Amino acid sequence: MIPVILSGGNGSRLWPLSRQLNPKQFLPIADDSLSMLQATIRRLDGLKVSQPYLICNEEHRFLAAEQLRTLGIDNASILLEPVGRNTAPAVALAAIKALEKEHDPVLLILAADHLIKDVDAFHRAVETALPFAQAGKLVTFGIVPTHAETGYGYLQKGEAAGEGGFRVQQFVEKPDSETAERYLASGEHFWNSGMFMFRASRYLEELQRWQPEILEACRRATAQSEEDMHFVRIGKEQFAACPEDSIDYAVMEKTEDAVMVPLDAGWSDIGSWSALWDVSDKDADGNVHKGDVLSHDSRNNYVHADYRLVTTVGVEDLIIVETKDTIMVAHKDKAQEVKRIVEKLKQEE
Ligand code: GDD
Ligand code: MG
Repeated sequence: MIPVILSGGNGSRLWPLSRQLNPKQFLPIADDSLSMLQATIRRLDGLKVSQPYLICNEEHRFLAAEQLRTLGIDNASILLEPVGRNTAPAVALAAIKALEKEHDPVLLILAADHLIKDVDAFHRAVETALPFAQAGKLVTFGIVPTHAETGYGYLQKGEAAGEGGFRVQQFVEKPDSETAERYLASGEHFWNSGMFMFRASRYLEELQRWQPEILEACRRATAQSEEDMHFVRIGKEQFAACPEDSIDYAVMEKTEDAVMVPLDAGWSDIGSWSALWDVSDKDADGNVHKGDVLSHDSRNNYVHADYRLVTTVGVEDLIIVETKDTIMVAHKDKAQEVKRIVEKLKQEE
């Protein structure tokens, strides 16, 4: 089994800590010592897996290589995308490269922005998934939803498909809030964790069926890739011509061969500041303080101070992030919209 770690996101909802040149997956956001990427790799310790494939943007190659090196990993394959085309092409590149080296390996697709508290339960779910993937199924890991989140995909659980797995009746990526409420109430729906397991050939077959242009562009781009001791650089012109799509929309919503393995492992996607507040240890007033912070009569805030003392009085539900060059203040309920600031800054450039 080859772990394939998708690390090409830009993490703009965690600005100003997460920056274009140093996005969240390379930062120690949920852990004081390991970056999210490093934690993703360490979480594999104890599983029978080969060296990971890492797929990231060209501009992050030194960060990625250095972070692997400090974990003592020097023979991982690092695939470099010249531009981001979302996850369906990224997974295709990994599948094509893996098939050049091995006879139809099983791929374990992982995101680099997840937190999983119960590693043993994660390992058990991976082991449960393996026979399904070996038999040609496309496995997703389902999480029992706790709220009507619109930023996730939803899996409707079908009948049992074998030991520990269920057919996926329907997969709906990022529904509107009314639909998400309905799914939450149904008791039949799970969140798609964004981790998958399948044989490389099965993914490419499905991509051929549903999005042949993506597959074609990825084949052309890998045929033009340049490989040295450290990196595989994917052909620029060919990959730039690839349509953009996520694996969820391109394949998982459409395939008839999906199986869900439930995962109860304290999983969260650290997608935004409010998600980070959710999973962090809080003081008696519900505050999370990172760095030099002093507050009075303040509740349920997330305050991060890198350089200066940050103080709060009489405020609630705020995200306050102070870095060398920026101070960001946001209401916790609007945490998803922090990325709008990043878009505005880009327009000004
Ligand atoms: N290499 C590469 N290239 N990686 C990418 C790219 C890309 O162009 N775009 C995103 N990624 C990486 C991100 O860094 C992250 O690790 C992972 O792929 C998932 O991308 P997100 O952008 O974070 O996806 P999402 O959170 O909106 O949605 C996915 O995850 C949810 C759970 O966290 C979907 O799979 C949802 O269905 C799922 O519920
Ligand atoms: Mg995500």
